[in-house]
Amino acid sequence: MHWKLTSFAALSVVAITACKTEPPTTLHVNTSQGTHGTGAQAFFETTVFPELDKDQGPDPTTGKLRQACVHCHSVGESGAPIWLKADPDAAYQQIDTYVSPYGSQLIAAPENSELLLHGEHTGPALSKSQELVVKAWLEYEVEERGLVSASGAGGAGVGGGGPGPGPGMTVDEAYQRWSDCMSLEDWTTTGMDKLYNQQTVGSGACNGCHSTGQAGSYLSDNAQDTFEANRHKPYMLKMVVGRVGEDGAFQDLVAAERFINKGSEKCTLTDTTLCHPVYALNIQSLNAVNNFFAKTKTKWKSPGACTPDVSGAGGGGGAGGGGGAGGQ
Ligand code: HEC
Ligand code: HEC
Repeated sequence: MHWKLTSFAALSVVAITACKTEPPTTLHVNTSQGTHGTGAQAFFETTVFPELDKDQGPDPTTGKLRQACVHCHSVGESGAPIWLKADPDAAYQQIDTYVSPYGSQLIAAPENSELLLHGEHTGPALSKSQELVVKAWLEYEVEERGLVSASGAGGAGVGGGGPGPGPGMTVDEAYQRWSDCMSLEDWTTTGMDKLYNQQTVGSGACNGCHSTGQAGSYLSDNAQDTFEANRHKPYMLKMVVGRVGEDGAFQDLVAAERFINKGSEKCTLTDTTLCHPVYALNIQSLNAVNNFFAKTKTKWKSPGACTPDVSGAGGGGGAGGGGGAGGQ
């Protein structure tokens, strides 16, 4: 059974990428299995779901098992939002109707979906094979549902130095502009450079565990390193997240507040020694997180207010913003 699904997956990915304009009719199979839908839904249930239900083995540095997405996201373990269920059909209904804590949906073009953008967090980032099928599936959904597609977006308004954020910007482009708009001066004047030293109840300060970016959270006593890391995914997503509307289009950047909320989230694990340390940010740390977000957001909205990051890999300012973004 599993072997069959795997080869189907490989074929489907090829079919989807090979014909962008016509729905790949070869995917309308599987009717013999009864409860599965057709098209993109069938692709999710037979091909994507089994991938999301696989763990990724032990983490090479910590030895801790990198659990399957389904493990946490079907039951809400460790405060995970429930966008999956334990069986494929229910999982599809769940992800279809899911609205995130930030008012977003996950079914959107790959450049707009947090599914692909979120990366390492409490759970692992998608593996390469998971990423491949999720991307193919989202492209299929975009086509089938007529969602806003990312190709042809870009150009004006993307780069930090250019005009403000504009229509047609993708979430990923919004993140790039956010990165361009972050400044070390704002980081230090708001006090974000001291956040690493915030104490938890009985387990020391944040940097005792997060000094090299564990769980997608980077907080070390080196202000420059911490600032640089937090300009990029997945670390930046502790502070900011893109909201996506029902049409699959990027709407706005909103405060993610992960540094604020993590310390008071309920732990559901039976082995409580694995629970995250409890903390409540002190007033300086709380102001730092809120003020840094507000300052950067103001710049992000203002035309020409930010300097494209030339040092980083992401590349800033408008370059390559034209069409053809849908290519693989
Ligand atoms: C150990 C538990 C755990 C595992 C395993 C896990 N996650 Fe998560 N996930 C969480 C928690 C907790 C959050 C909420 C905090 C945050 O946004 O990072 C979350 C949030 C998310 C979000 C943001 C949802 C939203 O609407 O804002 C996405 C997307 C996500 N996870 C994807 C995945 C994927 C893909 C996998 C599998 C590769 C996975 N997760 C595995 C715990 C987990
Ligand atoms: C004793 C080690 C330890 C300390 C101290 C610690 N953390 Fe964590 N943190 C973890 C581990 C392990 C995870 C991944 C598992 C989880 O999410 O519970 C994590 C995950 C997180 C996440 C993850 C992803 C998310 O968005 O939910 C955030 C944010 C976070 N920590 C913030 C902090 C802050 C802020 C502090 C300091 C006030 C802190 N942590 C102190 C060990 C620690």
